Amino acid sequence: MILDLSFREISRRLCRPLSAILSAICLSISSVVGTASGAAGPANAELPAEILRLWPYHASLVVLGFLLLVWGMTFARRKGPGWLKKHRALGVTGSTVAIAGAVTAFYMVSAASSVHFRVPPHAYVGSFIVLLLMLTPSFGLLQLKVAAERRGRVRGVHRLLGRALLLSMAVNILFGILIVSSA
Ligand code: HEM
Ligand code: HEM
Repeated sequence: MILDLSFREISRRLCRPLSAILSAICLSISSVVGTASGAAGPANAELPAEILRLWPYHASLVVLGFLLLVWGMTFARRKGPGWLKKHRALGVTGSTVAIAGAVTAFYMVSAASSVHFRVPPHAYVGSFIVLLLMLTPSFGLLQLKVAAERRGRVRGVHRLLGRALLLSMAVNILFGILIVSSA
């Protein structure tokens, strides 16, 4: 019960920052699109050519993964008919797509310079996200398999990891947009 209340409280506190971050992402995307269609050259002049060529693939995959995960979370919140199947399918698909996006980032940096973690906050938060992308669906599936008395605890961990994952993805998308728009 105490565990449940604290998760509800955490969710209430995360709700406002998450929506503020999402608005910031939308604003930043529109400013990057504006830059790309206009004076893209000088803004991106310091990024290696391979990164300039490949970042849209990396960004598209992680943003698509993020959107699928957010969509999946809405089913878990509303709990309409068949919500678990949709939540599970979107969770697993979204995680796979986002991990593919992170692998693309690794390939992109290898092809450009072989100097990994050159942009520490984005790269370290990105690696933490990859860990959460593996742990969250695992705990989601695990909660359906463990004994009834341990289910609540595993479910609590799953919810906490899920919210931490979505929040850190939103923040890292913002960091990524800042790299490509101000490098
Ligand atoms: C990365 C993928 C996933 C993310 C980000 C995620 C996230 C979440 C979140 C945030 C909640 C809490 C929703 C709320 O506020 O009430 C939740 C609930 C739940 N998730 Fe996931 N989930 C993922 C994958 C999965 C998978 C693969 C399963 C396996 C079937 C699963 C099973 C569940 C269940 C059963 C609940 C309901 C817990 C309750 O009764 O409130 N999730 N998930
Ligand atoms: C949740 C979303 C994201 C994750 C998990 C993620 C993950 C990563 C990781 C792990 C790296 C470092 C790779 C390495 O050093 O080996 C990286 C690099 C990079 N990412 Fe992302 N990323 C995300 C979103 C974005 C977005 C939305 C953009 C662009 C709009 C972006 C642009 C870049 C760029 C340009 C680099 C190369 C930085 C450099 O070394 O010069 N990322 N990303």
